[in-house]
Amino acid sequence: MKSYDTVVVGAGVTGLTAAWRLAEAGQDVLVLEARDRVGGRLRTEDHNGSDFEIGGQWVSPDQEALIALLDELGLATYSRFRDGDSLYVDRTRTARRFTGEDLPVEEQTGKEIDRLIGVIDDLAAQMDPDRPWEHPQAAELDRVSFAQWLDAQTTDDEARDNIALYLGPAMLTKPTHSFSALTAVLMSASAGSFSHLVDADFILDKRVVGGLASVPAALAARLGDRVRLSADVTHVAWDDEGAVVTVDGEQVGARNVVLALPPTHVRRIRITPGLPAEHRHAREHQSFGLVIKAQVEYDTPFWRSAGLSGTGFGPWELVHEVYDNTLHGKETGTLVGFVSDVNADAMGRLPADERRAAILQSLAAYFGDAALTPRTYVESDWQHQELTGGAYATSFDVGSLTRWGAKLHEPVGPIRFGSSDVAGLGFQHVDGAVRMGTRLARNILGS
Ligand code: FDA
Repeated sequence: MKSYDTVVVGAGVTGLTAAWRLAEAGQDVLVLEARDRVGGRLRTEDHNGSDFEIGGQWVSPDQEALIALLDELGLATYSRFRDGDSLYVDRTRTARRFTGEDLPVEEQTGKEIDRLIGVIDDLAAQMDPDRPWEHPQAAELDRVSFAQWLDAQTTDDEARDNIALYLGPAMLTKPTHSFSALTAVLMSASAGSFSHLVDADFILDKRVVGGLASVPAALAARLGDRVRLSADVTHVAWDDEGAVVTVDGEQVGARNVVLALPPTHVRRIRITPGLPAEHRHAREHQSFGLVIKAQVEYDTPFWRSAGLSGTGFGPWELVHEVYDNTLHGKETGTLVGFVSDVNADAMGRLPADERRAAILQSLAAYFGDAALTPRTYVESDWQHQELTGGAYATSFDVGSLTRWGAKLHEPVGPIRFGSSDVAGLGFQHVDGAVRMGTRLARNILGS
């Protein structure tokens, strides 16, 4: 049986970053990836002659670990198109123009939105995102859903629904009654502040030339034949000396094992002896959010000539947010819109042609009938992929972050765990995957 210093399971950014740092330090590493490609939740696909980023794509200025890695790999970025007016679709489905960050709502509602942003910013400033369970109000914030917490904060429905939009549909992609107020504060602290999350120019700042999937591709190229594809790990047997990893009936030995998977997917692997009970409970209380990312390419970016940036928000719309997603150097124009949580459930029940029609109709509420006739329409479908199962990422149900959050970081014998979904800074983002991969490698080298 061939043996390695470290076997990494999963060739997403977490696993590849860990493997590359270990290889750089002189370790003999092997990466086992179940899919026939690297990248996990990062992928670029060609449709009708254009590239579409199906998974993660944006980079924001707080994502320093990812930005440093892009630099190291020699990958360039470009800015998202954002010149012109943004749109806000109100309850009556009227699209109203605005500039800057202040939504075109009644003055009192605008002030209430700003006040609530301030309240969440203050809570986030008191949190170390690596240890959210140590927040001074952790117990109190983790025992209520974000929806309940928001209801108790304000009587202004429009202010409430807009704040809910930023953290529910737009970020955790779950209904706001299904995650705790503490998780909402974690999401905010992980990006530096809630103010960063509500500022689309900040949080959706840059894209990578060639796509964000160039990051795992470049790491895998450096690792060369240390990455094995179509290698679905089914069993890890361990003791204090090391582990035996089973893949396709073959066994490989390892002094260390890194399971670089979303917590939900650790459960797909048989581990003997079994994980301690609390480690299992922790992962049983995690689940994926759900979002449909719809990218719609037109012959021209027609909204630009009307003085529109392509950015739009509609807390009551099927497509709750939309942006100009035109590819670097392309003459066609692309919009990207998102349909989240319960709306994504409803859309998932429709035949593909009815779903497409409903999503285009929602885009038309922002941009008029010109939005109804694209040249290419692409939906990302992660929920039907066994090796992911949702989008963007996993998070805890109400009450579980304080109860089990710390367990997700504890090694068990020679096995370590990590993914963007358990990161502090960069939580649920590629930056978090880079940070987790780097930390896992550092911990192995230091042990
Ligand atoms: P990831 O899930 O990528 O990797 C895990 C790997 O393990 C997968 O390749 C899987 O196949 C493999 N695997 C699972 N079980 C296995 C087994 N038993 N044996 C072997 N291999 C196994 N982020 C961001 O920064 N900006 C953005 O704009 C977005 N937008 C976005 C949109 C959409 C639609 C999605 C789905 C996601 C995003 N994200 C994002 C999130 C970002 O893509 C995500 O946080 C990281 O790519 C996760 O990287 P990981 O390596 O942690 O997990």
